[in-house]
Amino acid sequence: MYKRVIEYLGEIRSFMVSRQRAAHIQRMEEDSVELFPELCESDKERLLVAVCAHDLFRDVESKKLVKISKIWNLKITKVEAFAPVLLHGKVASEYLKRRFKLSDEEILDAVAYHTSGMPTDSLIVKLLVLLDTLERGRNFDGVDELRAIAKRSLDEGYIEVIKNKIRYALNHSLLILPQTVEAWNFLRGVR
Ligand SMILES: [Fe+2]
Ligand SMILES: [Fe+2]
Repeated sequence: MYKRVIEYLGEIRSFMVSRQRAAHIQRMEEDSVELFPELCESDKERLLVAVCAHDLFRDVESKKLVKISKIWNLKITKVEAFAPVLLHGKVASEYLKRRFKLSDEEILDAVAYHTSGMPTDSLIVKLLVLLDTLERGRNFDGVDELRAIAKRSLDEGYIEVIKNKIRYALNHSLLILPQTVEAWNFLRGVR
């Protein structure tokens, strides 16, 4: 069903993103099969749409991301106004909606919140966060262990990756995204 969308997103990739970014997306495509071989065909396709779309706007400059967000009436949070690069997921999600009339909320959420994660039970949302963090080109302390956990259990993997995002942000004095905190609390039982 989504084959045409995946093909199209693959075609525009080379002029939408840098070569390094294109390679990152390519590795995620490959790892989606290797890390999660048990996915059914339709979930594989849905995940691929999300993978191919998630960073399409990552190399668009901040000013333009803000401009596009305003034209498309997207809500810009305080944190996003402070660091507009964070808008790249939301903009890509809105693009899918507008360009392909895509209405699969799980794909749209996955793309919009791939950087932060979010409170969710959605398989596609969790898989995209895992792939983005753990694709084979990623190299940070503990990545191999995280990959092994994710391979064993998607849910355990998601918990550990959200935990890692918060820990990393604190250790490097970076922003902690509100959706990441909400994801963590959700995983601790807040509904
Ligand atoms: Fe991204
Ligand atoms: Fe990414």
